Amino acid sequence: MNNQDLHALLRAMTLEEKAGQLTQIPLSVVSGGICDPTGPMKNYGLTPETTALCGSLICDVDCDAQEYAAAIEQVIEAQPHHIPPILMRDVIHGHRTVFPIPLALGCSFEPELARRMGVVMGREAMGANVHATFAPMVDVVRDPRWGRVMESSGESSLLCAKMGAATVRGLHEAGMAGCVKHYAAYGLCEAGRDYAPIDVSRTEMYNTYLPPFEAAVREGCEMVMSSFEAVDRIPCVCNEWLLRDVLRERMGFDGMTISDYADISQLISHGVAEDLREAAQLSLNSGLDMDMTSYAYVQHVADLVREGKVEEKTLDEACLHVLQLKNNLGLFERAVYNRDNVQFRAKLLTKENRDTALEAALKSCVLLKNDGVLPLAAGTKAALAGDYARSRTLMGHWSLDGRYEDIETLEEAFAAEARLSLADAAQADVVLFAGGEAEDDSGEDRSKTKIEFAADQKAQIEQLKAEGKKVVLLLFAGRPLILSEVLPLCDAVLLCWFPGTMGAQAIRRLVMGEEAPSGHLSMTLPRCMGQIPVHHDQLSTCRPFVPDTVYISRYIDESNDPLFPFGYGLSYTSFNVGTPDARADEEGFCVRVGVRNTGDAEGETVIQLYARAQKGLLIRPVKTLVAFRRVRLAPGQEMEIAFNVKPAELAVYDAQGKAHMPKGEVLFFVGENSADTRSCSAWL
Ligand code: GLC
Repeated sequence: MNNQDLHALLRAMTLEEKAGQLTQIPLSVVSGGICDPTGPMKNYGLTPETTALCGSLICDVDCDAQEYAAAIEQVIEAQPHHIPPILMRDVIHGHRTVFPIPLALGCSFEPELARRMGVVMGREAMGANVHATFAPMVDVVRDPRWGRVMESSGESSLLCAKMGAATVRGLHEAGMAGCVKHYAAYGLCEAGRDYAPIDVSRTEMYNTYLPPFEAAVREGCEMVMSSFEAVDRIPCVCNEWLLRDVLRERMGFDGMTISDYADISQLISHGVAEDLREAAQLSLNSGLDMDMTSYAYVQHVADLVREGKVEEKTLDEACLHVLQLKNNLGLFERAVYNRDNVQFRAKLLTKENRDTALEAALKSCVLLKNDGVLPLAAGTKAALAGDYARSRTLMGHWSLDGRYEDIETLEEAFAAEARLSLADAAQADVVLFAGGEAEDDSGEDRSKTKIEFAADQKAQIEQLKAEGKKVVLLLFAGRPLILSEVLPLCDAVLLCWFPGTMGAQAIRRLVMGEEAPSGHLSMTLPRCMGQIPVHHDQLSTCRPFVPDTVYISRYIDESNDPLFPFGYGLSYTSFNVGTPDARADEEGFCVRVGVRNTGDAEGETVIQLYARAQKGLLIRPVKTLVAFRRVRLAPGQEMEIAFNVKPAELAVYDAQGKAHMPKGEVLFFVGENSADTRSCSAWL
């Protein structure tokens, strides 16, 4: 529909219809019969009239092309102007073909893989008429006690921005709308406890937490989901500074904002709103367009407009964001993509999709330690042990449409490995101990106060060592775990995270050396709980650590250094990173560095460039990731990498959001991780 017709439609709508368009209800209410007052709707305080007006359905029942098509057609039929609903679902790291959790995919340092994941998961979900997904999640995370770190691309604002924008690109290639979340700074929840309050300065917002959202907005992401949190003590869902000043004015976002689940109604529990009516008034007036399942807008906005508490212009603005989103997706012309489940299912888990997921899993696993036991030599007498040897729980949280029946276990994958003589542990020389935390221990509402590697699993490894076995720990986790006690016991540690549908095959190939590990940590692994939060880009201190010195920033009972730094990862070969050289001109900086494969196997690594302006009124991180490049080199091969960095990429923002550009000397650090780097400097 053209813009003129869209505005004509808006003018023809009643206040109730417009309020309805701003309302998202569970699909189960409609598929339970849109006007069946005895159906699920009664649980939500909905009536047949309000249900019929809804603008969007959150897909809370398993994907089924026929059922979703019928729900769409029921709403179109019941709507006074037959406006199609937009269907949204959490397609976060795959649909039926499940990719590694985003924290793992971040370890690939390959945004192209995120784009390809976006294409695969978008196409698969659209087969069931899903129009939009609540992804990418771009929360910067520093506290592994928080269960939702699994959903993020990690601790680096730049990496979250690159992976998030690439996911949006992939979704668009498939034809699906994205929704960048959670706006903003949800990852700062106090003590890592989910939904706990955050306290964040505007300076930190501008420098760390907002850039990934800006990157997604620049990529054309259609929606932004407000966070459950509060900034400046004003809940994000009714925070005008966030929703209008920053998102609309500063970032130029012209899409649709949506609340998180039932969040408008949560203004009441915050004591911010007296009741649902006031909650609706506060949120809509602050720029929050769509109400996910609070039913505040559909019940109260028409009256609020009549009473002058919400201007009709405000309602029209929000309603137009919804109509434009539907129009841009072509839903007025074709809201049902497919009615045939056979056709829908035929496009799931295709070989092409599996191959992409396999590549993602191969590049997401991180080799933390290897005393030479890996890759396993042909003929090795090996055994599989640990809870994950026979487990299908390899998908991780937020894999709504993944099926355990699709997941191959490690035992199944290795059973077909002819180069190994698989035995039980007693006869084996090498034990592949598949352990870690339970799949359900991370994700939403999965915060933990203890994240040490499980004592009972450590005891099993100790026993194996006492029996003279070599132990390879295949570690499954949705967060960084504390490995300090188990690490010395293991001859090798491969961090597999939750690797998805093709995880077992990827692990087999890595263990057998068909592919070399190449993942690099997207999040720091602390030495102990007491170090949390610990991350590579901590701000400078007035008293930086100096060995054997007192009255400096240190612990008296532990090192400042994490067990494994951000960006860390081993391969089956070794690389030499030369001394970088930085030049500055009017364009900015060019940093060149030579990399050579000094081992006897082909391999990939991720060369990371960090930077720090030496001088500036505002203190800055000791080093910030500013660029990265994955490279593959044959034995003895070397290459030169050139990084081009614009001064604006090194800007530091003050509390008013004003950029302070670097002046004078800028230090650059290059390496395969954030701790072991070689440096140079250049002057602006
Ligand atoms: C949840 C999550 C959000 C998700 C939404 C819809 O509470 O916070 O990430 O997209 O509700 O399921």
